[in-house]
Amino acid sequence: MATLVNKRILLGITGGIAAYKSPDLVRRLREGGAEVRCVLTRAAAEFITPLTLHAVSDQPVYQNLFGEQPTSEVVSGGEAKAMEHIELARWADAVVVAPASADFIARLAQGRADDLLTTLCLAADAPVAIAPAMNQQMWQNPATQSNVETLRRNGLHLFGPGDGSQACGEVGPGRMLEPVDIARLTAGLFESGELEGLGVVITAGPTWEAIDPVRGITNKSSGKMGYAIAAAAAEAGARVTLISGPTALADPDRVKVVRVASAQEMYDAVHTQVHGAQVFIAAAAVADYRPVAPATTKIKKKSEHLTLELVRTPDILASVAALTPAPFAVGFAAETENVEANARTKLAAKKVDLIAGNLVGVPDRGFEAEDNGLLLVEATGVTELPIQPKTKLARALIHHVAQRLAARRGQTRERA
Ligand SMILES: Cc1cc2nc3c(=O)[nH]c(=O)nc-3n(C[C@H](O)[C@H](O)[C@H](O)COP(=O)(O)O)c2cc1C
Repeated sequence: MATLVNKRILLGITGGIAAYKSPDLVRRLREGGAEVRCVLTRAAAEFITPLTLHAVSDQPVYQNLFGEQPTSEVVSGGEAKAMEHIELARWADAVVVAPASADFIARLAQGRADDLLTTLCLAADAPVAIAPAMNQQMWQNPATQSNVETLRRNGLHLFGPGDGSQACGEVGPGRMLEPVDIARLTAGLFESGELEGLGVVITAGPTWEAIDPVRGITNKSSGKMGYAIAAAAAEAGARVTLISGPTALADPDRVKVVRVASAQEMYDAVHTQVHGAQVFIAAAAVADYRPVAPATTKIKKKSEHLTLELVRTPDILASVAALTPAPFAVGFAAETENVEANARTKLAAKKVDLIAGNLVGVPDRGFEAEDNGLLLVEATGVTELPIQPKTKLARALIHHVAQRLAARRGQTRERA
């Protein structure tokens, strides 16, 4: 089942009578796990108040391209930021306009950006969907039909409209779909099907190398990136196994999770799960060294100095890349400097297909941050995935891997 967990939905509301259903739609999207921010056109505010939408979304409500601040910031006395429309467009995992009026559809079809909502739709790099809602005659008007066709050709998703009795008393096509159906279709926007039927094994989080029964060596990995990749791979239709070190994160939907602690346990779990998988993504921050012999009882504070002898842990990524047949193997290189050069060295040393280099140890990026950027280093070249929320970044990485697999399958067919 498609899911809205961890999705950021920008809900555009235009000036139609069906706007009275918008608070219900916000609730349905939130019940599915999404974070929802509302954007109203000037006409929409004649039908529904920003205050209501702020209350049900628990997020700022946006109305104007210029000048005014979002409702909640006005309430808290904060200041609106310039270029907020671009930030909002980048924030969204999907833009859904419901209800979408005939007027809004016409403006969008012309590529206009004369208010906040049309500007956001033009600036969004995420999927955009519209749920038309209007009188049946307005819907069937050739002008509306040709505008909708233009939008469809431009890659916008169309939710409905439905058929039936209308607020104006007429009967026919043009009814907005019910909020429960719009929420379900919104979840479906993320189901790319790019890895349909393929097996993907992913590692995530830190490892824990015991020093004694209560102490251990670990690192600052939160597991967020690996978990986001697992969720993105499941959305792409893959059978996903996530082998996770100790994290505070909930299991992603539709993902088989195997929890481990040490690097050796992770190695064993990977080799149990990876056979038959087409993709292996090593996003865990695995300890390079572990104590040679963990104490069986708690080490007491006696002497002034204590020396721990460490030994190398097994190299999980290189061991998977050396399998025959080997899955498409992706490693991560968390670097504090020289990301590209270090990623290239790792690519060659581990004989993997792709190294995703990322900068850590800087504020707002890397291990514990919500956002990150990646440099995808392959034998054939380098692709930059710019800084964005880890959930979006994960989808971009899965899309990249899916393209590489598709190209490989094409080459195999050509040779056959
Ligand atoms: C009472 C009332 C109800 C309306 N209902 C709709 C509607 O359901 N669908 C629609 O496309 N336009 C409807 N309109 C017309 C739009 O509000 C009008 O075209 C407006 O310019 C839309 O602006 P917007 O697209 O920026 O929100 C209605 C107007 C009024 C006065």
